[in-house]
Amino acid sequence: MTPPAPLHQAAAPLKILFVTPEVRPVVQTGGLADVSAALPAALRRLGVDVRILLPGYRAAVGERKKMRLCARIGDIPEHGEVRLLSAGLPHSDVPLLLVDYPIYYDREGGPYLDAEGHEWPDNAWRFGLFSHVAARLGSAGSPLAWRPDIVHCNDWQSALAPALMHFMPGRTAATLMTVHNLAYQGVFAPQFATRLGLPASSFHMQGVEYYGRFSFLKAGLYYADHLSTVSPTYAEEIQSEPLGFGLQGLLAARKQALTGILNGVDAERWNPASDPFLPAPFGPGHWDGKQANKTALQQTLGLEVRPDRPILGVVSRLTPQKGLDLLLAAAPRLLETPVQIAMVGNGDRDLERDWLALQARHPGAVAAHIGFDERLSHLVEAGADIFVMPSRFEPCGLNQMYSQLYGTPPVVHATGGLADTVVDATASAVQAGEATGFVFREMTARALEHALLRALDAYRDEHTWRRLQLNGMSRDFSWDHSARGYLALYRSILAARPHPPARIECSAVLP
Ligand code: ADP
Ligand code: GLC
Repeated sequence: MTPPAPLHQAAAPLKILFVTPEVRPVVQTGGLADVSAALPAALRRLGVDVRILLPGYRAAVGERKKMRLCARIGDIPEHGEVRLLSAGLPHSDVPLLLVDYPIYYDREGGPYLDAEGHEWPDNAWRFGLFSHVAARLGSAGSPLAWRPDIVHCNDWQSALAPALMHFMPGRTAATLMTVHNLAYQGVFAPQFATRLGLPASSFHMQGVEYYGRFSFLKAGLYYADHLSTVSPTYAEEIQSEPLGFGLQGLLAARKQALTGILNGVDAERWNPASDPFLPAPFGPGHWDGKQANKTALQQTLGLEVRPDRPILGVVSRLTPQKGLDLLLAAAPRLLETPVQIAMVGNGDRDLERDWLALQARHPGAVAAHIGFDERLSHLVEAGADIFVMPSRFEPCGLNQMYSQLYGTPPVVHATGGLADTVVDATASAVQAGEATGFVFREMTARALEHALLRALDAYRDEHTWRRLQLNGMSRDFSWDHSARGYLALYRSILAARPHPPARIECSAVLP
């Protein structure tokens, strides 16, 4: 006799291919690498079967421990054999798939730029191939037995995949295109549209054409089933000038399919009570630790060791986006109050020079550490008194969240995720016990200076300052919350598809 069928069949876990050009600790230029490590891990904790697809950069392949060849793909136009390697991320249970194509990815330098800071000249090919592999893994022609329900693309480097999938015959996975920064779009000469495998008809305003050129990001935004970005305010801002960067019309037209989900903070890496990078752990009630970190920061960066001097901290990519030109302009007057400034960052050569010049003019009061240094970034968050983030635009921003958790109230411009995560210390917000920092609206050095002077006033009032610190330290920025938002979004994307995604039979399973 056949046993009765169970009333509730356990639902198969959702399968997500998370396609990203950077993931920490393997390769990082900014917050996308943090997100690409933490979000998949949080999704896995919620029972989602998520796997990451990354280009096989030298650093990724060099760090492989248990890596194995899991597939070969031989028929991508204009390319020889592409190998798919399977690896793992350190301290993570999220499987990692690497697109192994040494002439594109096995080189010295950064993932997008060479050692001199210039774009790699073959970036259209490098990320075109990357997108092709993502699209293939989400289609009936995948060489893997594992088939994603959704191909989740992140930023322009993977944004061709939704367009390629749109034109594929047969059923494909659904697609989600997440924008972490609309300022980077991957715009190339028009002929790349067809050379990278798209039909000529797609090179159109209603398609991948962007002011006469070919845009990877527009391809993703136009063809993906759903779009998301990393804060609710940024999701609104990109639907109009100036933050739409020429794509506002398309984004406004697709606003029903556009969702803003705030990033979170990796609580294991960013906890002042257990942070291995700090000489002295601390927390509410253990303020000596914070003071010890301040001393360590002053010593490490060559600042005068003065417990009484408030330190303004900065950790940032140095690009016009981050608005640090405003701080450079306001610095001479602020330094008279007096304060110290501790800046850790790298990027644009001109901004690096400006910071070094400011340091040279104010030895012992300004420290500019040019470089990417994880340990120092933690020490600044912990040892500074006030964190400064005057970004012109900020899709989400992570440092202002870290600084709140580290008892270092941030001063931020009211934009994107900064507006969504920092509660301005107005009299009523302080009274209500909700204030966590200082927000300014006008993008001028004067407005920043004014906000910093407000912060310095509050700093001198010990009681108010403690309240601000404690409010910030008790904020819940956990990834768990954001991951639930993505899970709900994945489900709604699948529910909105005209047909449920097919369980495609695999044609060939390679070892
Ligand atoms: P973005 O991605 O625009 O650079 P985010 O605030 O989202 O901005 O993320 C930046 C991430 O990169 C944070 O984790 C930050 O600590 C880190 N970071 C940026 N610059 C440096 C640096 N010079 N040294 C160490 N970490 C840095
Ligand atoms: C981008 C944005 C930043 C965001 C990060 C991760 O680099 O500039 O605001 O936090 O991506 O989503």
